[in-house]
Amino acid sequence: MCGIVGAVAQRDVADILLEGLRRLEYRGYDSAGIAVVDGDQQLVRLRQVGKVQALADVMKNQLLPGGTGIAHTRWATHGEPSEANAHPHASSGHIYVVHNGIIENYQILRESLRERGYLFTSETDTEVIAHLVAFERESSDSLLEAVQRTVAQLEGAYGTVILDKREPERLVVARSGSPLVIGYGLGEHFVASDQLALLPVTRRFAFLEEGDIAEVTRFSVQIYDKTGAAVSREIHDAEMSFDAGDKGEYRHYMLKEIHEQPAAIQRTLEGRISQERIEVTAFGPQAAEFLSQIEHVQIIACGTSYHAGLVARYWLEQWAGVSCNVEIASEFRYRKSYVHPNSLFVTISQSGETADTLAALRLAKEMGYKTTLTLCNVSGSSLVRESDMAYMMRAGAEIGVASTKAFTVQLCGLMLLTGLIGRYNGMTTEQEAAMVDALHQLPNKLEQTLSMAVDIETLAEEFADRHHALFLGRGEQSAIAMEGALKLKEISYIHAEAYAAGELKHGPLALIDAHMPVIVVAPNNELLEKLKSNVEEVRARGGLMYVFADSQAAFASDATMRVLDVPHCDALIAPIVYTIPLQLLSYYVAVIKGTDVDQPRNLAKSVTVE
Ligand code: G6P
Repeated sequence: MCGIVGAVAQRDVADILLEGLRRLEYRGYDSAGIAVVDGDQQLVRLRQVGKVQALADVMKNQLLPGGTGIAHTRWATHGEPSEANAHPHASSGHIYVVHNGIIENYQILRESLRERGYLFTSETDTEVIAHLVAFERESSDSLLEAVQRTVAQLEGAYGTVILDKREPERLVVARSGSPLVIGYGLGEHFVASDQLALLPVTRRFAFLEEGDIAEVTRFSVQIYDKTGAAVSREIHDAEMSFDAGDKGEYRHYMLKEIHEQPAAIQRTLEGRISQERIEVTAFGPQAAEFLSQIEHVQIIACGTSYHAGLVARYWLEQWAGVSCNVEIASEFRYRKSYVHPNSLFVTISQSGETADTLAALRLAKEMGYKTTLTLCNVSGSSLVRESDMAYMMRAGAEIGVASTKAFTVQLCGLMLLTGLIGRYNGMTTEQEAAMVDALHQLPNKLEQTLSMAVDIETLAEEFADRHHALFLGRGEQSAIAMEGALKLKEISYIHAEAYAAGELKHGPLALIDAHMPVIVVAPNNELLEKLKSNVEEVRARGGLMYVFADSQAAFASDATMRVLDVPHCDALIAPIVYTIPLQLLSYYVAVIKGTDVDQPRNLAKSVTVE
């Protein structure tokens, strides 16, 4: 979703801001803008609908000198994508604002500001921040004070950076519900919604906490907490590599990330499993104490992360001997639910900033869950900071909007969690050793599975002119089918649905004809024979099937069924292995269709508004 970059430096910052926006493109956006001011209070603002490149093109014809600036990529919420709605928004000829999040009481504020004579030039909620700061600045001693007074009137979520062109030596930033980091350089400072934006200029970051407001100049960063007290926030060295945002030899980030999965899984397991045991410290120093008392697990997530939770439910109930519920965060947070005794509340999130998931975590704490755990890929993110325990995924930066490596790494983490909780609930050491052994095989198995790419690329041709697709699986694979359908619809815009295969007769069978491709995931497990019966049901109705089957599962291609052999693997890790061909299928279909694979229309990588 929206991205923010800001800088206060001696050197000109326009190119730094532009590069920052480029590095945030992956989050999804529909317009971009920049404002830069020089020491003589000369400010230039440029805004463009469309890609950051469109902004870069106009910047080529316009000098933007100046050491202080703010820039933004906007994902429309209030008002269509247009130049007038793009950030930075301005007020009174001197206040400029970029903002992520949603100001919920913007209409009331808008009315009262109108009555005070402020003229609105956009349909956005953000413009009220600009006018309010300008209004408060008239009776405040400093920009900082004006921003403090402003945010006290805002309801909703914001990460915002404010520039007053009459004071070109400073920026004021405020965070509530939408993340912001401060980047520390030598004689220069930066702000951004994501540290990835700033890796070319610094590797030292402090994460603002909820309610923090900071005044940033070239030489100092002064942070105040929500009570107004001066505080210091720890400065961390970035763990991400500088080139985390590079595509390397790959045509798209998504393809790169699909191929990174063996290495990402190796990394996530490193030091967390020995030859036969799972190391409890993978979940933090207090994990042994917390996990030994768990009788129920409540998993909350959104999108792809939710699908990882659905797989884990099968594992936790089968292996760890505890009951488990899995729910979408946006549903959980608005309903009254029951808290089972000794429940572990688990959030799964690549970004650690998904607004609904974060709200669900905060609610869970109020509801009295015993312990909270997050499986997350971004250190310092809100979910990590606010949970009792954190499993850091170590998947590396994921740039493609459609999640791939984060999903398979989440599944590894969830399997470790299963083994650990199982240890306290009767899972034998032999069972744990078998689980660990299967995990050790995983990177190699995924490498082998990735070699299916050539065949899947050819197969994808058959999907390019389809309008619908149906995905089927049983057991854990029903969740993998859901993930496969989600991937296909996200990036190729083909309508795809997934069903647990046993549910076919209860509706979806009515859709089957020769135009409806049916994709089946068929590992060699105890449900194989049941699944084969479902395949026959589709065949009997003239359906067109594509079966991703274990090489030992005895499926044979014929006129109505294409069988693609998936390398034989342990049933335990099959959900992870079978994810790969489905990712590859949606990728190649999208490439053939010519869609924007890495930034599919209307979608965002990090959904920081509800
Ligand atoms: C967005 C992304 C998905 C992701 C979901 C949850 O919809 O496009 O890829 O699965 O958010 O994000 P999270 O960061 O919480 O895993």
